[in-house]
Amino acid sequence: MKMKCAAAAAVVLLSLFSLGLSAPLSSCDDLLKPITISKEEMLGRWYYIGGSSDIPGSRSLAYLMTDSWLDLNVTSRSNVLNIVQSQRIFGTCFSLAYDVIFENSTMLIEQPFYLKEVYLSTECADCLVAKEDIISATNFTSLLIFSRSRSISPAALELLKKQAECLQMPTPIMLNSDNEICPDDITPSEGLSAINSVLQAKMGFRVGKFLDSLFDMFIN
Ligand SMILES: *[C@@H]1O[C@H](CO)[C@@H](O)[C@H](O)[C@H]1NC(C)=O
Ligand SMILES: *[C@@H]1O[C@H](CO)[C@@H](O)[C@H](O)[C@H]1NC(C)=O
Ligand SMILES: *[C@@H]1O[C@H](CO)[C@@H](O)[C@H](O)[C@H]1NC(C)=O
Repeated sequence: MKMKCAAAAAVVLLSLFSLGLSAPLSSCDDLLKPITISKEEMLGRWYYIGGSSDIPGSRSLAYLMTDSWLDLNVTSRSNVLNIVQSQRIFGTCFSLAYDVIFENSTMLIEQPFYLKEVYLSTECADCLVAKEDIISATNFTSLLIFSRSRSISPAALELLKKQAECLQMPTPIMLNSDNEICPDDITPSEGLSAINSVLQAKMGFRVGKFLDSLFDMFIN
C-alpha cells in the first residue's frame, strides 16, 4: 500500500515537473520579452483599453475611470516626447501634460520618481502593451494595453491576461469602449507632480488596498 502511494506520488510529481518544464516557463519568457519600437511608432493618439497594476488604489481608480487616452508628440529634443494624458474619473475629464525620455524602445521618467516602461508583444496590430515599473521605496508594476482604436480583439485580451498571469498580477480591468471620450481641448496641468503626489501618499496606501479588494469583490 505504502509503495503504491509513493509510486503514484512520484508519477504525479514527474508529470507536474514535465508540465512545468514545457509550455509555461518558455512562453512567459516570450510573453514578457520587450519588443523593439521606434519613436515614430509611439507618436500620436493612443486609447487606453485596460490594464492591471499593483499600485494601491489603482484597481478602485480603474473602476471609477471611464475613459482615458494619451497623445504623444515630439519635442525639440530628439530623445524627449511630450505626453498629454486625459482621463474621465467620476464623470469629470481632466488632462495632464509631461515630458518623458524615449530611447532604445524604452520610456523613462527619472524625476520626481523613477519609472521605466518597456513594450511587450501583442496579438493586435494597432495595439501597444506596456509594462511599467516604478522603482521607489516600494516598487510597483503595471501592465497596460493601448490601441489606436477603442477596442481590441478577444485574442489580444487573452494574451494580455496571460501576460498578467506571468507577472503574477491580478486580471486586467478593461474599460467599456462605449463610454464617451474626453474632448481634446482641455488645458492640461503639469502632470508629473500630480502623479508623484499620488505615489507619495503612502498614508493612503492601506485605504487604497482596502478599496481595491472591495471593488474587486463586488464588481467581478
Ligand atoms: C505636436 O508638436 C508640434 C510641434 O511642436 C505641434 O505643431 C503640434 O501641434 C503638436 N501636436 C499635438 C497634437 O499636440
Ligand atoms: C539599448 O539597446 C541595446 C540593444 O538592445 C543595448 O545593448 C543597450 O545597452 C541599450 N542602451 C541603453 C542606454 O539602454
Ligand atoms: C526595486 O527594484 C529595483 C530594481 O529592479 C531593485 O534593485 C530593488 O531591490 C527593488 N526594491 C524593492 C524594495 O523591492
